[in-house]
Amino acid sequence: MSDAKKELTIGMLGCGVVGSQVVRLLLEDSGDFAARSGAKLTLKKIAVRDAKVKREKVPANLITTDADSVVDDPAIDIIIEVMGGLEPARKLLLRAIGNGKSIITANKALLAHHGAELFEAADKNGVDLYYEAAVGGAIPILRPLRESIVGDHVYRVMGIVNGTTNFILTKMDESGSEFAVALKEAQDLGFAEADPTADIEGHDAAAKAAILAGLAFHTRVNIKDVSCEGITRISARDIAVARDIDHVIKLLAIAEINGKGEISVRVHPTLISRQHPLAAVRGSFNAIFVEAESAGELMFYGRGAGGAPTASAILGDLIAIARNKTRGGEGHGESDYAELRFADRGQVLTRYLIRMDVADKPGVLAAIAQIFASNSVSIETVRQSGHDASAELIVMTHQAPEGSLAATVAAIAKSDVVKSVESVIRVEGATR
Ligand code: HSE
Repeated sequence: MSDAKKELTIGMLGCGVVGSQVVRLLLEDSGDFAARSGAKLTLKKIAVRDAKVKREKVPANLITTDADSVVDDPAIDIIIEVMGGLEPARKLLLRAIGNGKSIITANKALLAHHGAELFEAADKNGVDLYYEAAVGGAIPILRPLRESIVGDHVYRVMGIVNGTTNFILTKMDESGSEFAVALKEAQDLGFAEADPTADIEGHDAAAKAAILAGLAFHTRVNIKDVSCEGITRISARDIAVARDIDHVIKLLAIAEINGKGEISVRVHPTLISRQHPLAAVRGSFNAIFVEAESAGELMFYGRGAGGAPTASAILGDLIAIARNKTRGGEGHGESDYAELRFADRGQVLTRYLIRMDVADKPGVLAAIAQIFASNSVSIETVRQSGHDASAELIVMTHQAPEGSLAATVAAIAKSDVVKSVESVIRVEGATR
């Protein structure tokens, strides 16, 4: 099938759910890959922590527990890193780059923490560093940002980039269950890990938000620049209230630019209208909604995790790098020329839905409205339902600076007429 003259040799770091699918596909489809890339792609070594683990379709003779022997092997041209974690992945990749090897990584946390160091090293050594699998699994989103719409001005990226939390929120929406019940179901079905912290606290989404923002705005974005709130406080009542107003709650990663050319990057549970395209993304699926000046609205949808879907993105990167090597030259490095400033978090414009229990007596609404007015926050809608001497009051605000909204909530919580602030959830989705 192929008359590939060149041979490129591959080393892998890690061989779990994703890595074993990469190996399977590399071995099964080698003829197609040679024809598509112009080079015979030969897998030479796979470093793992425990060689005794049974890995189907992974040739035992390729396995080693000596990761240094992979990154230091002069015969290896390309390293695929699917081991995860910050260390030793960072040190191993820096060493591989120093040894002139191109890199493919699915490691979002590593890129969000240490991307600058890795990109600088790759640039200095003239090697490729590709990472399509790090955000949205199989979904092509990084290459479109880096290539297809790089001639446009992106002004907002909003993504459902964590399948575990989207599965949990979808379950809560469909069955009315509380968070803990939906989490347990996600764990029983293998969608959530035994320790789900990185997913449910939003850390995984924050790493992906940093990567998306960096590409969208040509600016270095570290995970420390991302404000992050997870979904652990979302209750069945919050979901029901969202449903009543024809909205749905999603954990969104949002990166946007304001009128002053400053960017903000954040992850939080968000109310969006059921008419918004992201509202239709259910279960463990991911989607990224991009708004750009000339292109308008775009949406990228698909499987954000899992062995074969993530392997698909890795193999796409592998063929792209192999093509660069067979034709000469490198792919794109980091684009950070814009060096945009980050907006003051208190100045970021957003809308809140505030749900509170209040005393049901004359003057309460007026007192609460006064708190909003004195913080210059405009109210869009108010809904009240009473029970006994209490009432549930749900206020949706117009857009206001985050700092003013936070000050409003703090004052409400202290007010004599308010028994408790039950929840505060941001609202998004109005497009330009
Ligand atoms: N744990 C992630 C998710 C997949 O639930 O989407 C890996 O980033």
